[in-house]
Amino acid sequence: VQRLYAEAAHYLEPANAYVHIKGWVRTVRDQKQFAFVQVNDGSNVSGVQVVVDGSLPSFHEVTQLTTGCSVAVLGYVRESPGKEQPIEIHATSVELIGSVSSEYPLQKKRHSFEFLRGIAHLRPRTNSFAAVARIRSALASATHTFFQSMGFIYLHSPIITSSDCEGAGEMFRVTTLPPGAGDDQADFFGQRVSLTVSGQLSAEAYACALGDVYTFGPTFRAENSNTKRHLAEFWMIEPEMAFASRDDAMDNAEAYVKYGVSFLLDKQWEDLQFFDRFIEKGIVQKLEMTRDLPFARVTYTDAIEILFKSKEKFEFRPEWGADLQTEHERYLAEKHFQRPVFVYNYPAKIKAFYMRSNDSESNAEGRRTVAAFDLLVPGIGELIGGSQREERYEMLLSRMQELNLNPDQYWWYLDLRRYGTVPHAGYGLGFERFVQYCTGMDNIRDVIPFPRYPGHCDF
Ligand code: 4AD
Ligand code: MG
Repeated sequence: VQRLYAEAAHYLEPANAYVHIKGWVRTVRDQKQFAFVQVNDGSNVSGVQVVVDGSLPSFHEVTQLTTGCSVAVLGYVRESPGKEQPIEIHATSVELIGSVSSEYPLQKKRHSFEFLRGIAHLRPRTNSFAAVARIRSALASATHTFFQSMGFIYLHSPIITSSDCEGAGEMFRVTTLPPGAGDDQADFFGQRVSLTVSGQLSAEAYACALGDVYTFGPTFRAENSNTKRHLAEFWMIEPEMAFASRDDAMDNAEAYVKYGVSFLLDKQWEDLQFFDRFIEKGIVQKLEMTRDLPFARVTYTDAIEILFKSKEKFEFRPEWGADLQTEHERYLAEKHFQRPVFVYNYPAKIKAFYMRSNDSESNAEGRRTVAAFDLLVPGIGELIGGSQREERYEMLLSRMQELNLNPDQYWWYLDLRRYGTVPHAGYGLGFERFVQYCTGMDNIRDVIPFPRYPGHCDF
C-alpha cells in the first residue's frame, strides 16, 4: 500500500491499474449502493480505501466485515474523489481470510498506551505502534548506512560475558538449569557469567586492530529503575574509534544523530506528521532544528555553574562532584541551550574505570576530571554516554586498583595497553531513547516491541 501511494502515477496507468493487496480491516462504512472498507497492511499510516460496489456478489459479506478481519482485495487503482487520499481501489473481489471474534480487544476508539502494554502482541496493529515500528526499522537502517559509509566495521559483540564493563554491578547472572541443581551449581558450566551491560570492551579490542568499529545489539541492566527512560533490556549502538580523542568521538556522535534525524525527515515523512499531530506537537520542527543547528558543548564544571545560577527550583541541589540528575540534564537541554548539548570532562569519581584521566589539565579541579561526555537532549536527558579511553597501562591499572576491580579479570583488556596501545574513544547511544526523541513517545516501554522491566516479561 505504501508503494501504491509512492508510485501513484504508475498505478493509475491503465496497464498497471489492477492490483492485489492483503491486510487488515480498520473500518467499514455501508452506504447501501457502495461500501467503503479501509484496509491497512502496516506499510503506512492510513492504509487504503477500498470501494466495493453493491453489485459485487460478495457485497453483503463485505458489509459484515469488522475491525481486525484479514482480507485479500483484487481491484483497480483509481483517483479518489475524496480529499483525504489521492487514490483508492475499486474492488473486483474481496476475500475474507481470517475473521475476528467479538472479544477482539482493539476497537475503533483510542486506547491508552497503558492498556495496550497488556496486549503487546496486538498493539502493532494500532497506528502509533505501527509507526514506531517503522521508525525503529528506518533508524536502524540509517545507523548501518551512516557507519558503513564511513568505513566502520560492524562488530557482533557477545551477549554472555564475564566482564562488567561499567563496573556498576548491575548485571543479570546467566544460569544453566540442570535438573535438581542447587543455586551454587546453576551457572555457565562451572563459570560465573552474566548478560552484557555494554559491548564496549570487545569493541575496544577490535578498534585496536581494525580502526573504526561499531556494535548494534541488545544490552541488559539489572537496575530496579521504574522510569520512562529505563529498560532492563535495551539496544545500544557503540562506535569505537582508534587514534581518536574525546572531541573526535563527540564530532562523530553529533554527525550520527543528525544523520539519523535527517534520514527520517527524508524517508518517514508521513510517520513524522502522524507523531506531530497526535503525540508531540512541533516534533518535526524539533527534528529539523536538530538536523540544522550545531549542538552546544559545555564542560561539566561550567554546566554546574549554569545550574547553580539558574532560578529553577530543583529537587536535587547541583553540586560539583555529584552526578547530574535528569532534572538538571533536561534543564540544560530544554531551557538553557534549547538544543542537544554535550557535557564533557566529568569528575573521575562519578565515572567508569576506563575513562581517560585529564591529568595534564592546568588546575587541580581539572586534574580530577576524565575525558568523558554525555549528550543531553530535550525531552529525554541523557541520550549518549562516551569518553576517550585510558590507553596508558600504568594509569589504567592504578585506576582499577583504586576502584577495587580485580585486574586478573580484565587481563585481556589490559593487554590492549601493553601491545601497541593507541589513543581511542567511543560512545554508546541508547537506541530506544533515540526512538523516543524522534517520535515524542513519552514512555520507553512503548518504543520497543516487547519491553522488559521489573516484573514484566509476559510475552
Ligand atoms: O552511559 P552508559 O551506561 O554507557 C555505556 O554503557 C558505555 N559503555 C558506552 C560506551 O562508551 N561504549 O549507556 C549508554 C547509553 C545511555 O546514554 C542511555 O541512552 C542508554 O545507553 N541506557 C539505557 N537505555 C535504556 N534503559 C537503560 N536502563 C539504559 N541504561 C543506559
Ligand atoms: Mg551514562
